[in-house]
Amino acid sequence: MACVMDGNGRWAAQRSLPRTAGHRAAETTVIDVIEAARSAGVGWLSLFAFSTENWRRPDSEIAFLMCLVRRVIRKHAPLLHARGIRCRFLGMTDPRIPPELAGDIADLMTLTARNRQMTLTVAFDHGGRRDIVEAARSLIRSGVLAEAVTEETFAAHLPFSDTPDVDLVIRTSGEQRISNFMLWQVAYAEWVFPQVLWPDFRAPDFLQCLEAYRRRERRFGGVLPNQNGGTQA
Ligand code: IPE
Ligand code: IPE
Ligand code: MG
Repeated sequence: MACVMDGNGRWAAQRSLPRTAGHRAAETTVIDVIEAARSAGVGWLSLFAFSTENWRRPDSEIAFLMCLVRRVIRKHAPLLHARGIRCRFLGMTDPRIPPELAGDIADLMTLTARNRQMTLTVAFDHGGRRDIVEAARSLIRSGVLAEAVTEETFAAHLPFSDTPDVDLVIRTSGEQRISNFMLWQVAYAEWVFPQVLWPDFRAPDFLQCLEAYRRRERRFGGVLPNQNGGTQA
């Protein structure tokens, strides 16, 4: 499952604080949600932290986010490792990413590489379209014949291609859009859009979203066995 962590700026604005205060407050939610997901038995959790479009924000906000992520990683690496969480970062190709941050991220990925309790994928400098374009490039480079390209071979060229399709996406703050998030992997995801802003989102909200997901009827384009509309065989 995945979270589009949205609403930090509005959370801060409601308190007449700078947007950065909302990002700072988001740290508690991130840890809360990781713990809640692990306890609920979620095997794969992805968090959307920074999009390829977020580079359009003011330099000061971007710089703040880079520092914040670095601080959060350094502070919580021992906890994540102790909980058996494998951490990895999806995206991370822009040269504007500070080398110190890239270094800390590489260290965290190495430290936790063998953990299997849960895989945490942080989408950072991530864009769904960019991943698809990169997969196309990688396929062409591999010399595969056009006729041999299937959905499976294509998906194998996406970054972290072992990540299963997303079943549930939670986007906080009431915004209802994809914002270029894991486009390929969310093809058949269920979405929930809680109104609560990300810094206020807590484990009980998370469990409510899981509950909403359990009530959904997933059809994948088909019909359920007991809903054949009375058609006689
Ligand atoms: C999400 O909160 C965090 C990032 C995109 C980094 P926003 O910063 O988008 O908050 P709003 O949407 O302005 O409230
Ligand atoms: C999407 O949120 C990216 C992240 C949550 C990291 P935004 O707040 O940047 O998305 P838009 O601009 O409202 O679509
Ligand atoms: Mg936003």
